[in-house]
Amino acid sequence: MSGKSPITIAYGDGIGPEIMKACLEILEAGGAQLELDEIKVGKELFLAGNTSGIEPRAWESLERTGVFYKAPITTPQGGGYKSINVTMRKRLGLYANVRPVRAYYPYAQTKFTSLDIVIVRENEEDLYAGIEHRQTEEVYQTLKLITRPGSEKIVRYAFEYARANARRKVTCFTKDNIMKMTDGLFHQIFDEIAAEYPEIQAEHMIIDIGAAKTASRPELFDVILTPNLYGDIVSDIVAEVSGSIGLAGSANIGQRAAMFEAVHGSAPDIAGQGIANPSGLLLAGVMMLIHLGQNEAAERIHNAWLRTIEDGIHTRDIYKSGSSRQRANTHGFAMGVIERLGQRPLSLKPVSYAGGNTMPRAIAGKVVAPSKKELVGVDVFFDWEDLKAAKPRDPAALAKRLEAVALVELPLESIGNRGLAVWPNAPGEVFCTDHWRCRFKADGAIPHHAIVELLARAAEAGLDFIKTENLYTFDGEIGYSLGQGE
Ligand code: NAI
Ligand code: MG
Repeated sequence: MSGKSPITIAYGDGIGPEIMKACLEILEAGGAQLELDEIKVGKELFLAGNTSGIEPRAWESLERTGVFYKAPITTPQGGGYKSINVTMRKRLGLYANVRPVRAYYPYAQTKFTSLDIVIVRENEEDLYAGIEHRQTEEVYQTLKLITRPGSEKIVRYAFEYARANARRKVTCFTKDNIMKMTDGLFHQIFDEIAAEYPEIQAEHMIIDIGAAKTASRPELFDVILTPNLYGDIVSDIVAEVSGSIGLAGSANIGQRAAMFEAVHGSAPDIAGQGIANPSGLLLAGVMMLIHLGQNEAAERIHNAWLRTIEDGIHTRDIYKSGSSRQRANTHGFAMGVIERLGQRPLSLKPVSYAGGNTMPRAIAGKVVAPSKKELVGVDVFFDWEDLKAAKPRDPAALAKRLEAVALVELPLESIGNRGLAVWPNAPGEVFCTDHWRCRFKADGAIPHHAIVELLARAAEAGLDFIKTENLYTFDGEIGYSLGQGE
C-alpha cells in the first residue's frame, strides 16, 4: 500500500465518541494508513431540525471516499425521524450486509462453543421497499419485490466471500415452497450461481427450519445467505446464541461505497462513563481495513484483539470473575490491544488475511437477454360486498356482476379471496374478506386497451376496483401465480 486511504468517519453519540476514539487509536497503532474526514450525523442534527440526521456535506465526503466508518447513532423515537442506517443503505446502494459472528468461549458465555457463522443478507429489496397500501376496510398490503439483478449480486457476493475466506459451505434460506415466484427466483439464482463455485458446498433450507436450526445447532452452518427480512431475523438469532452480540461488527457493501459499524447501538445507559466495549466497532474496522487492501494491519489488529480477550482483559459487559483477569475501561482495553500488537491468540483460533482480499468488492449482475413478453389478461382487485343481500359476500353474486362487465375477448376466469380460489369452484363455506382478486384471462395476447375498456365498464357498473395486476407470459412461461385450489 502506498499512501493513506481516505475514509469518512462519524463519532455518533451515546458511547459512540468513546469507542470511536479507542478504535482509531488501535487502528493507528496497528499500522492502518487512514486519512480521516469527519462528518456529523445523528442526534445533533435531528435536534437542529434536520430530519434526515445527515449534514449535506456528508454526501460529498462519502462520494469522495466511498468508505464510511460509523459509530452508533441514537435514533430518536417518534417525531418522524428517519433511521440513518436505512437512508445510508438506500442512498449508497449498500446491498450486502455482512455480519460475521463467532463464539469466544469461555470468554463470552454460549452453549455453542464452536459457532462461527457469517451472515450475508440482501439489504435493499424484499419487503423493505416499504410500498404499502390500505385497499379496503379490512385489507392492507405490502409489496415484496425481488429482482434478478439484485439477487444475482447478493448470491454472487456470498460465494465470492466464501471463496475468499476459505469457507466450505453456503446455505441459502428462503420460503419458496410458498412464494414460488419471488423466493423461487432467489433460490433458482442461488442454484445457478452455486454451479460456478464447485469447491463450495451449496445447500438450501426453508427459512422456518433453517432459523430453528440456527438456534439449536448453529455449528451446522458456515455462510448463511438470505433475502432481506429473513436475514434481519436470522442475524439476530445467530448473534444472540453466540453470546457475543456486543462484540460483533458488520459491513454494508455496495458498488459505490461501503459502511462499517458495530452491531450494537449507542448504549445511552452507560454513555460518558468510559466503560463501553469498543470490540464491535474495532472488528468492523478490521473488515474495513481488508476492504481497503490493508490486510497486514487488519490481521495484526485482529490477532492482538483475540489475544487481549484470551488474556482476560475484559470490559464490564463481558467481565466474569474467575475467567477474566482485569476489569478494563474503554481506554484500558484499547491499551491492552495495542500492547499485544504482533502477538497471536494461543487458544482461540488466530486469523490470517495474507491470502488476499477477504472482503470482496461488489459485483454487478449479468444483463439477460429480454424475453418475449405478452399481455394475456388482468387480475382486477375489487372492494366489494352487498350488504342488502342475505349473504353479503357471496362469490357467485360478485361473479354474476363481473360477467356482465367482462369483454368477449377478456372473460372472467376465476375469483380468489386471500389467495384461495372461491369461484367458479367454491371450497364450501369459507370466510371471505372484502378484497377480491378477479382474474380476466384471454386466450392469447391482448392489447392494453382491452384492460382500459374492462375497467371503464366496471366503473360504469359502480364496482370499486382498487388495483390491477397485469398477467404476462415471458417466452410463453406464465408470470403469475395460480390461486390456491385452482
Ligand atoms: P444498545 O445496543 O445500544 O444497548 C443494549 C444494551 O447493551 C445496553 O444495556 C447497553 O449498555 C449494552 N451495550 C451495547 N453496546 C455496548 C458496548 N459497546 N459495551 C458495553 N455495553 C454495551 O441497544 P438499544 O438500547 O436498544 O439502543 C440504544 C440506541 O441505539 C437507540 O437509539 C437505537 O436506535 C440506537 N441503535 C443504533 C444502531 C446503529 O447506529 N447502528 C444500531 C442499534 C441501535
Ligand atoms: Mg434488525
